[in-house]
Amino acid sequence: MNLRRISVSLAAAALALPVAVTTASARSHTTRSTTACALATAADPGNSTAPASIPASLHAPKLTKKSTYNVAFSQNASNNPWRLAETASMKAEAKKLGYKLTVTDANNSQSKQIADVKSLIAQHPDVLFIAPITEQMAAVIKQAGKAGIPVFLLDRDVDHKVAKPGKDFVTVIQSDFVREGKRAAIQMAHATGGSAKIIELEGTTGASPAIDRKKGFDSAIKSCSGLKLLASQDGDFNRATGQKVAETLLQAHPDTTAVYAHNDEMAIGAIAAIKALGKVPGKDIQVVSIDGEKDALKAVAAKTLFATVECNPRFGPKAFATMKAYASGQTVKTLIVNTDNLFTIENAKANISKAY
Ligand code: AHR
Repeated sequence: MNLRRISVSLAAAALALPVAVTTASARSHTTRSTTACALATAADPGNSTAPASIPASLHAPKLTKKSTYNVAFSQNASNNPWRLAETASMKAEAKKLGYKLTVTDANNSQSKQIADVKSLIAQHPDVLFIAPITEQMAAVIKQAGKAGIPVFLLDRDVDHKVAKPGKDFVTVIQSDFVREGKRAAIQMAHATGGSAKIIELEGTTGASPAIDRKKGFDSAIKSCSGLKLLASQDGDFNRATGQKVAETLLQAHPDTTAVYAHNDEMAIGAIAAIKALGKVPGKDIQVVSIDGEKDALKAVAAKTLFATVECNPRFGPKAFATMKAYASGQTVKTLIVNTDNLFTIENAKANISKAY
């Protein structure tokens, strides 16, 4: 069952087609045609409904019920607040439960994460949690499954043609990234009245949130002819890279009026790039992003960022609860979808103190 496919078709069905408005000029008696952007007045659709058809995880390695576990977590990077919050949440929950947790950090390198996972397989923990850097991690994940280790994917998915959910890994717990992209598109339309020349800062090439956030946003804005995508480039989910890429794209496209960033770190980089150009973020150029980190909520409150769609990094409680349910023989589905908030000028300030 592929969340991407389900979300895209639901998103397409939910989007109203653009309304063709024909107005007659009283003076010239000529007819002018404009196209209204339904997204500009659309309410935030909130979270998607998990499809009932997601299969149960039946053929992955089993987990024996015990009073304590030796658990490992392969994290893909620690270079942004989101990753640090996810690791901290995993550590806090393991500590609370009294489990031994080994954490590796791939330092944003796919070859390092493959090596990390191979070395963890050799240590044979009871359970392996993996936050895969890209979808290409599927092959090594399959190896972990073959070694009899139950694997739980956190926050990013892998290529299902190579690693089968419910067989090579137990489940993937993640946000609906396509939905996040669609929600961001609606915020972009609100920010710009449905008329903007947009540059898009993409997440790490090959990472499932980068693929799906692009899919959700790009397909949603197609319903508004006034929302034009000028350019799209990989900013690696990183603040400094996002700033550099934004500088290059803003120089190449001086008519840009909006930036869509696949995460807050790149959005904050883009805001710096906009200021460096002598333009005013939130006025000359609108910015919309995804995550909900503290700096982004401050930027929303300061009106330099229009909105950020939440992607909650606090996986610890759900990850370990799912693992325990699996050990108890309860049904665990092959996909578990998180629910996320939306931060706008209405609620950003009130949430700063709780943010990471
Ligand atoms: O996979 C989730 C994404 O990865 C978050 O949006 C981003 O900040 C992180 O690096």
